[in-house]
Formats: sequence, structure tokens, C-alpha cells
Amino acid sequence: MAASTSSSFKNSVMFILVFLISFLSFAPHLRVIHSHPLKICTFDQIYQLGDSISDTGNLIREFPVGASTAFARLPYGETFFKNATGRCSNGLLMIDYIAMAAGLPLLPPYKNVDADFRHGVNFAVAGSTALPMEVLATKHIFSPVTNSSLNVQLDWMSTHFTSICRDHRECVEKLRSALFMVGEVGGNDYNYAIFQGKTIEELTSMVPEVVNAIVDGVRKATSFGATRIVVPGNFPIGCLPIYKTAFQTNISTAYDENQCLKQLNEFAKYHNAQLPNAVIVYGDYYNAYQFLLKFAKSYGFDTERACCGIGGKYSFNMTTMCGGPGVPVCEDPHRYMSWDGVHLTQEGYKIMAGWLVHDMFNKLLCHF
Ligand SMILES: *[C@@H]1O[C@H](CO)[C@@H](O)[C@H](O)[C@H]1NC(C)=O
Ligand SMILES: *[C@@H]1O[C@H](CO)[C@@H](O)[C@H](O)[C@H]1NC(C)=O
Ligand SMILES: *[C@@H]1O[C@H](CO)[C@@H](O)[C@H](O)[C@H]1NC(C)=O
Ligand SMILES: *[C@@H]1O[C@H](CO)[C@@H](O)[C@H](O)[C@H]1NC(C)=O
Repeated sequence: MAASTSSSFKNSVMFILVFLISFLSFAPHLRVIHSHPLKICTFDQIYQLGDSISDTGNLIREFPVGASTAFARLPYGETFFKNATGRCSNGLLMIDYIAMAAGLPLLPPYKNVDADFRHGVNFAVAGSTALPMEVLATKHIFSPVTNSSLNVQLDWMSTHFTSICRDHRECVEKLRSALFMVGEVGGNDYNYAIFQGKTIEELTSMVPEVVNAIVDGVRKATSFGATRIVVPGNFPIGCLPIYKTAFQTNISTAYDENQCLKQLNEFAKYHNAQLPNAVIVYGDYYNAYQFLLKFAKSYGFDTERACCGIGGKYSFNMTTMCGGPGVPVCEDPHRYMSWDGVHLTQEGYKIMAGWLVHDMFNKLLCHF
């Protein structure tokens, strides 16, 4: 993926990685009530499936494509780690804040064979999709970055549990206090579709299949012994610089009061409404993002432009993205919501995570 220098539209789509996540901690100005608010849930492990919203280093360990993506280089990682870790932001992600809120170490990527997996594993891969590559191909949708879609990640999970449990009963016992995050995933299925020319109607017709793949992931997690499962929804994608740039219009009624594209937000809401919310808990990334937007506006953040990027109203250009030659990085990423036009800054994730931890706290029934 390299790079940002390609002018071919297809290649540039490779940079579009994906979406989302969620939960806790000390946003500046947010009052900290408890520094480990999820500790009462006594999670001893976290298992994460998903895409670039939660990848902490899997994609950059994939050859040849992943290792050569911009995510493997600075400025990715410049703020917290002072080095690229494979996280698609300047620093920590929502899953990092969730782990911290639970009093656990940061979640290691599955592809790091030297990692300590006693407190869980991160199977998420930036650029991955809910539907398998071959299924997308039948719809003439090309998945450019990785073949490690949700079903592949679930196979890894199965392999991992086979290696740590002697039998099903032992796994159920071991996973009794584990938190499972099934997503955010599915955002890329729609990203690739829309940037490869599909209409909103065509995207809408994909929703049942995408949701089915996510529900299937939940079913698989349950079959391993998972009891506490969070299924995060998609962001209000009509607020992201990548979409605002691609679908910019002079028609003022296309925008809502936050200058976000209404039709794309409606689509994200439609997808989210189909996600299961019965036994498992719904991770409301959509409203967490809206909270962040309101917060950011009242504290004078730049809510429009990407910190790392160049060009146009939103400092975003699909052919010249963050990490490419000559692409500037803002001096104060903590004053921006968007890191690279697609993903949020550490500060953005921190504030969203704070809202989410609070929102999910009761839903997780930790007091029982
Ligand atoms: C930065 O990360 C890379 C791997 O992603 C590693 O090889 C290198 O040693 C790290 N550099 C520092 C200064 O930590
Ligand atoms: C995905 O799989 C196909 C066929 O199996 C292969 O040609 C392609 O290179 C793979 N893509 C990536 C990004 O690994
Ligand atoms: C919006 O209008 C301006 C002139 O009023 C024009 O230059 C620009 O190209 C228009 N943009 C779009 C996206 O239609
Ligand atoms: C994006 O950048 C390319 C080359 O870097 C340039 O040709 C193109 O006009 C830019 N597009 C916009 C919308 O600014």
C-alpha cells in the first residue's frame, strides 16, 4: 500500500483502511471517576476481532502488502510509541484504552509470535472485511490490503484456543472472565464497495450478508465459551474526511448540523440497527463519535481537517495520503479529531473510549 504516491484510483483504494472501536479513560477535561472503570468486571483476558480501528500490529506483519503500508512507518505512532506499531493512528486506539480501563496490559497482535497471550489476543487486521475475499469478488468488489477477513481471524482464534485448552470444557472455564470484541468489522466491505463505484442502494443490499457474517462471528465466539461479547457498530462515516472529500457537494441540505453527510450517516445507522443486541452488548461507536464531535467543537478542536494529510477543505487527498512523501503532519494532533482522514487521533479515540466505557458499563452486567 504504499503509498500515497500512486495516482491510480485502484491502488489508492488500498489506503482506505477502515474503521472503528471503542471505550475509556482520561480525556483531558473529562472528570476521571475511576482510573480502571472496567476493573469491576474482572476481565482477565480480551479477544479482539476486527479491522484498522483495532489492529495493534497484525497487518504490518503480513507480507508483502502489509509490511509495506504507511502504517508500518512514522508518522504513524509518533505520539505515544514514538515508533510505528501498526496502529492506524498517531498513538493509542480504543482497544488500548479498554484494556487499560480493565487493568490489563495492552493487547498483543496474534502475528507477534513472541508475544505474551495470557491476557488475550488481538486478531484484528487493518483493511480486513467481514465477508471473505472470494465472496466480495463475486460482487466485483476487490479487497486490496489483506485476505485476513473475519472468517480467517476466527480460524486463528480457533487455532489459538486449541493450543491453550485441552478440550471444550477447559476452554469454557478459561474464558469465563474474558471480554470478546467482535468488531468493528464490516466498515471496509462498504468502503471498498463505495470507492469502487457501487451506489448506496447496492451497499444497502449488502447489509444482511455483512451483518450475517458478524453474527456468525458472535456464534463462533460463543461456541468457544465466550459469555461477554461486545459487537461495536460503525462510525457515522459521513463525518470522516475521506468521505467528505469524495462526496463533497454544494448542496447544503446534504449536510447535517455537524457538517456531516446525511446520506452516509443514515447508511451507517441502518447497518448498526441490524446488529444483534440481545444477549450480547452493542458497542455504540456511532453515538460515541457524535459525543466526541460535540466535545471537540466545544473545546475548539479542528473537527474538519485531517492532522496528517494535504489538500482541499479537509486536508485530505486520496492519492496523497498520510505517510506519503511531502505529506505534512500537524504540530498539535491532540487538537484534531481525525488523524489521517480515515482514522482518529489518539485524543479522539481516548474521548470516544471514555464515553463508551461509561455506556457499556451497565450493559455488561459487571455488578453480577
Ligand atoms: C520501531 O519498531 C520497529 C518494528 O516495527 C523495530 O524494528 C524498531 O526497533 C523500533 N524502533 C525503536 C526505536 O523502538
Ligand atoms: C489474497 O489472495 C489472493 C489469492 O489467493 C492472492 O492472489 C493475493 O495476493 C492475496 N492478497 C493479499 C493482499 O495477500
Ligand atoms: C461549488 O461551487 C463552486 C462555485 O460556486 C465551484 O467552483 C465548485 O466547483 C463547486 N463544487 C462542487 C463540488 O460542485
Ligand atoms: C490530489 O493530489 C493530486 C496529486 O498529488 C492532484 O493532482 C489532485 O488535483 C489532488 N486532488 C484534489 C481534489 O485536491
